Amino acid sequence: MRTFFTAAILLFSSFYLEADSIPAISVFSDSQEVGKAAAQKIADVIIKKKQEGQTPIVLGFATGNTPIPTYAAFKKLVRETNLDLSDVITFNLDEYIGLPTSHSQSYYSFMFSYLFDDLVASPTNPHGIKRENIHIPKGATSHEEDLSQEELTALAERFPDRQGTALSLEEQFWIAEQRANAYEALIEQLGPIDLQILGVGRNGHIGFAEPGTSFESTTMVAKLTENTRNINSSFFDGNVNEVPEFAISMGIRTILNAKEILLLATGSSKAAIIDEVLKSPISSDVPCTALRLHEKTSFFLDEDAAVIYKK
Ligand code: GLP
Repeated sequence: MRTFFTAAILLFSSFYLEADSIPAISVFSDSQEVGKAAAQKIADVIIKKKQEGQTPIVLGFATGNTPIPTYAAFKKLVRETNLDLSDVITFNLDEYIGLPTSHSQSYYSFMFSYLFDDLVASPTNPHGIKRENIHIPKGATSHEEDLSQEELTALAERFPDRQGTALSLEEQFWIAEQRANAYEALIEQLGPIDLQILGVGRNGHIGFAEPGTSFESTTMVAKLTENTRNINSSFFDGNVNEVPEFAISMGIRTILNAKEILLLATGSSKAAIIDEVLKSPISSDVPCTALRLHEKTSFFLDEDAAVIYKK
């Protein structure tokens, strides 16, 4: 019996050690240098796949303060090297539920203002990203006019007694779930994602996959923790009541399905979580530890974010 248990423990630990691959870590002087290196990495992935004749190139993008220097550096690089983006497809990680796309703090607005406005194809920019190749989850709102004709029909079938034009919370959730499932199916159809850019929340969330989220989760309706809403209130003039409570987010399995992952973390507010992500046991309590189950993950950190981990 004892031999059996010893063998089982050895087997388990060998599997665990094999599965736990510490990401490749690069530390840069500051957030601008992280941005430049990350932008170069994105360009390298595009160039390599093109050279191998393996288009399209599928990129996963993130929002938040962290990737802003990356997007600025990437736009500069595209301009300076005339990088052709006509074969690029993009998928964003997440979007708030309850904000119309046009809201200044929607992730749709964020991505267009920091990246896509300057990169989208147009008569003057024929090698830009085709508008139809940009994918950002669409968060449900209470307004019927935000629904497609197909969604309206499906909603009427699912809720035959519904009245009026405003969507109830239950109806919004139902729409959000349909959209989450359709988003996952689209990633499966057009993917896999070649390179997924990620930030990390101070509680270890990735996308809006908050602590406790299953590693097998796919694109889903996610509930934001109070901690995350408080932190994100800085984008909403400090008013936490304005921060949506739910979002559509890629799941952890969706993220792990990417061929390569690049996590960015800058600033001293990320030092504790980076240390925890790299040193604590792999657990859904800290969703970002799931990245240690992925064989091709890099962390680009600045000195401030790496300070505790390096001790
Ligand atoms: C947000 C986003 C994440 C982001 C994280 C960190 O809530 N959903 O995708 O990585 O929080 O944001 P920041 O880069 O602003 O610290």
